[in-house]
Amino acid sequence: MTDPQVHEVAVLGAGTMGAGIAQVCAAAGLRVAIRDVAPEVLDKAIDSIGKSLEKLESKGKIGEGARAAALAAIRTTTDLAEAVGRADLVIEAVPERLDLKIATFRDLDRLAPAHAVLASNTSSLPVTEIAGAVARPGRVVGLHFFNPVPVMELIEIVRAMQTDDETVAAARAIAARLGKRSILVKDVPGFATSRLGVALAAEAIRMVESGVASPEDIDTAMKLGYRHPMGPLELTDLVGCDVRLAILDHLHREVGDQFRAPPLLRQMVRAGKLGRKTGEGFYKY
Ligand code: 3HC
Repeated sequence: MTDPQVHEVAVLGAGTMGAGIAQVCAAAGLRVAIRDVAPEVLDKAIDSIGKSLEKLESKGKIGEGARAAALAAIRTTTDLAEAVGRADLVIEAVPERLDLKIATFRDLDRLAPAHAVLASNTSSLPVTEIAGAVARPGRVVGLHFFNPVPVMELIEIVRAMQTDDETVAAARAIAARLGKRSILVKDVPGFATSRLGVALAAEAIRMVESGVASPEDIDTAMKLGYRHPMGPLELTDLVGCDVRLAILDHLHREVGDQFRAPPLLRQMVRAGKLGRKTGEGFYKY
């Protein structure tokens, strides 16, 4: 399958990432079905897509009528079969649990058309193991998007051991169609982006733990000293402390001790201080 044949996309999971992915697909002229198990999560996703499109419209980044066209291209459903039955591309963005992803791909294998590319937006889990759950592993690939999806220019394409050349080519074409730059990485724990991202974040959290400087000053160091758009602690609040802890725990198991999660991060997650989404992380919102 090459990109011109992608007309319909199914996005599974309507959280922050699923909503952003659905938005950029619809803005690129594709028909989009978003599926989530919870109707209220679907409503929230449509709301956030509307707001983001409004922002882009008010800044002149999308033309008049583009917001309505994108919203009209999106339908929501709780029914997996309905969502994926006509999809040329499925992008899974369910919570970062390998058992859940594997179960989802098993269902997809039954329900999605034979030609469909089956992509996972996982930020660190093994795409090779996910591909092992289906009878067409060559069609499985990682398409790793970044938050906020409508703004961030990268898609990290993760090639599982089984991914075939045609699927890699299709992934590259899809990224270009969505207006993103792509990089291709092997399926190693954390890929390129999450591995580097959590390494910096974990060190910054250890520096907070040992009182080197305040979160504000550590973030300012990286923003002004290294021109990062956000400091590592602000970014951890944006991504979610729980998400970053899960990535660190996975990399600790798979790669080794340099990825041991700082105790402060684990305590914060236990206390429900997950970052922006709960109103408190390293900062209060
Ligand atoms: N929809 C549409 N537009 C948006 C938006 C959204 N959701 N969020 C921000 N924008 C736009 C703003 O309107 C603004 O547009 P302008 O340049 O035309 O004025 C522009 O983006 C910048 O936004 P702001 O002025 O509000 O704020 P900033 O200049 O501080 O930028 C930011 C915000 C884009 C988030 C920037 O701080 C940034 O790039 N931060 C780093 C984000 C990052 O590293 N993300 C990756 C996280 S890791 C990840 O996602 C992987 C996952 O697997 C965990």
